[in-house]
Amino acid sequence: MSDVKDKAEVTETSEAEIAVHWAEEELVYPSAQFIAQANVTDPAVYDRFSLENFPNCFKEYADLLSWDEYWHTMLDTSDAPCFKWFVGGKINASYNCIDRHLAKNKNKTAIHFVSEVESEKVEHVTYQELYVRVNEFAAILRDECGLKAGDRVTLHMPMVAELPITMLACARLGIIHSQVFGGFSGQACADRIVDSGSEYLITMDAYYRSGQLIDHKEKADTALAQAAKEGQNVKKVLVWQRYPGKYSAATPMVEGRDFFVNDLLKKYYGVRVAPVSMPAEAVLFLMYTSGTTGKPKGAQHSTGGYLAYVTGTSKYIQDIHPEDVYWCMADIGWITGHSYIVYGPLALCASTVIYEGVPTYPDAGRPWRIAQDLDVNIFHTAPTAIRALRKIGPDEPAKYTYHFKHMTTVGEPIEPVVWKWYYEFVGKKEAIIVDTWWQTENGGFLCSTIPAIKPMKPGSAGPGVPGIHPIVYDNDGVVVPSGSGKAGNICIQNPWPGMFQSIWGDRDRFVKTYFERYCKDPKSTRWQDWPYLTGDAAVVGADGYVRILGRIDDVINVSGHRLGTKELESAALTVPEVAEAAVVPVKHEIKGVEPDMYIALKPGMVASPELAKKISMAIVTEIGAIARPKSVWIVPDMPKTRSGKIMRRVLGAISNGTDIGDVMTLANPEIVEAIQKMVQGK
Ligand code: WTA
Repeated sequence: MSDVKDKAEVTETSEAEIAVHWAEEELVYPSAQFIAQANVTDPAVYDRFSLENFPNCFKEYADLLSWDEYWHTMLDTSDAPCFKWFVGGKINASYNCIDRHLAKNKNKTAIHFVSEVESEKVEHVTYQELYVRVNEFAAILRDECGLKAGDRVTLHMPMVAELPITMLACARLGIIHSQVFGGFSGQACADRIVDSGSEYLITMDAYYRSGQLIDHKEKADTALAQAAKEGQNVKKVLVWQRYPGKYSAATPMVEGRDFFVNDLLKKYYGVRVAPVSMPAEAVLFLMYTSGTTGKPKGAQHSTGGYLAYVTGTSKYIQDIHPEDVYWCMADIGWITGHSYIVYGPLALCASTVIYEGVPTYPDAGRPWRIAQDLDVNIFHTAPTAIRALRKIGPDEPAKYTYHFKHMTTVGEPIEPVVWKWYYEFVGKKEAIIVDTWWQTENGGFLCSTIPAIKPMKPGSAGPGVPGIHPIVYDNDGVVVPSGSGKAGNICIQNPWPGMFQSIWGDRDRFVKTYFERYCKDPKSTRWQDWPYLTGDAAVVGADGYVRILGRIDDVINVSGHRLGTKELESAALTVPEVAEAAVVPVKHEIKGVEPDMYIALKPGMVASPELAKKISMAIVTEIGAIARPKSVWIVPDMPKTRSGKIMRRVLGAISNGTDIGDVMTLANPEIVEAIQKMVQGK
C-alpha cells in the first residue's frame, strides 16, 4: 500500500520539474528615444547590485528617501529569517510621499481621479491639496478614534482618491493600515478585521462598477456582525461619501457607530498633524493574501525597507520621472496598487492616475480616452485586462492620439501573442514593455528587465532586478542550471528591503511556508542559509531570463487575483449538504484560469441544479464574486489516492480536457470515467 501512495505522490510533485519546450521568442530592443530619457542606462548597475556588493548596494535606494534619523545598520540578520533593514533609521512614509514635495511642487497634480461615469469631471488633487486632506483626516483618526502608532485599522474601500488619502493619513501617525479589496465580501472583510484586531473600519457608501452605483456600506454591516461573532468588536465605522454631503447607499447608518467622514471633517478644518517619526522596521501596512490553508495571511510590510524598495524600483524599472503621468490600472486593494499606484509614484513626486471602474466600460476605448485626455505616458496593467481589451476592441487604441513611453504587465504569465498585441497596438511600437514578476509578500518587483538596458523577450519576465538573485531548485534541493530547459522551484537567494517581515501574528507559518523547504540550517543567522521559496515554478534561459509557469502550491490565479483553493473549498463546505470539495484551475481565454469546483455530497443528499447554485452563491458570499466557480460539478465520489488525498491533478485534467495520465494507482479508478462523462459528455 505504501508503494502505491508513493507512486501517486511522485506523479503529483513532478509537475514542478517538467521539461519545458517553447519557441525562443525574438528579442525586442528599446528605442533610442526611450534610452535617451531613461533613469538608468549604465549596465554597471548590475555590478553595483551584485551578490558581492550585497547588502550595501541598497544604500542607493535608501538614499532616495528623506530620513528623520539616518540608519546605522543596513541589514540585521540576527533574527533570521525575519530580516531587519536600515536599523536605527527613523522615517515617515506620509512625509516622504507628500510634505517633502511641497517646496517645489505643491501645485503639481499628485492624483488624477477618474470617475467611471464618463461625463463627470476628472478630479485633480495637487500635492498641496493632498497634504491638507491627509492632515485633516489624520486628525480624525487621532482625535475621534484615539488611534496611535502600531494600532491596526481595516479599510474596505473602492478605487477613489480617498483611499490613498486614508492610507497616507494612517502612515502619518504610524497606524498600520489593512486595505481589503473593495470587491471582497463583508465576510472576507470580517476575517481580516478579526485577524488584524482592528477596532475601526473605514469604508465608502457607494461606488460605480459597470455603470451601477453599488451600495458598498451594506458590506460594512455584514463585516461588523460577523467580526463580532468571531470576538472582534469594531467601535466605529467611518464612511466616506462618494458624493460629499450626500448619502448614496440605501443601507441605513447605525446611530453612534457609523459616522460620515465629511461631517467629522468640518471640525478639523485647517488642522495639521505632525508626521510621526517611525523606526524603519515599524509595520507600515498589512496586505492579506491567499495561502494553502483556509486562513488568509497578513503579509506584514515595513516602513523604511518597503518604501526604499518601491521608490527605487519605481525609478529604475518603471522609469518614473517627476514630470510623468503614470497610470497603473490595478486596484489599490492589491499589492500592485499599494506599491505602484500609491507609495512608489508619490515618493517620486509623479502624478498618479486612479480610475474607479471597469476598463471596458462603457466600451473598450475607455482606457485610451483616459490616456489621451490626461496625456498618460506610463501605463501599467495585467494580462487579464490586456486580453479583454484585445478581445473586444483590438483596433481601439489606434483611434486615439496618446503616446506611451513605457508599459508594464504584472500578475500572471503573459502569452507571447498577447504581449505582441500589447506592444504593437497599445504601445504603438513606441513603448517599451516590462514584464514584472513578483508577489504580495515581496513588496516590489523580483524579475524584470531594466528597460533601457536589457531587450524585451515576449513571455519572459527577465532576469532578477538589481539586488535580486534568483535560483531554481528541484524538489531535492539540487540547483537546476539556467539554460537546461528544465523547470523547478524558483527561489531568491538573498533577502531584500521590500520583502515582508513576517505573516501577521504567525511567525511559524512564515518560516514554514517560505523558508523551511530549502533552509540549510534552521539555527543559522546567516542570510545565505535562508533561500526564499516563492511557490512558483519557473524555467530560466541561458541568458538569465525567467519564465514563470505558475504556482507549485494550491493557489490559483484568476484574472491576476490570487485565490487559495482551500479558501474556496472551505466556503463550499459551509453548505450543509456538502461533504467534500475540490477546486481546480481551468483555462480561460481572458482570465487566464477560472476555478472549477467538484463536490461530493453527504450520504443521502441528492444533487440538483438548485444545490449547485447554492454552493456557487456560498462562495460569492464568503469570498466575493471574483471567486465564483465556472461550474459546480456534483460528482458521486472524488478520485482519491489510497491514502485518501483527493487527486486534484486528475480533476484538473478532466476540466481542461487534457490527458489524465495513469489512474490505476487510485483507490477508485472507476470514478474517473464517470466524472469524465459528466464533465466532457463522453
Ligand atoms: C503570479 C502580484 C507570471 C505568480 C504582484 C506569483 C506572475 C503570483 C507575474 C503573485 C508575471 C505575478 N508573470 N506570473 N509577471 N506576476 N505572477 O501576490 O504566480 O497577487 O506567485 O502579486 O502571481 O500574485 P500576487
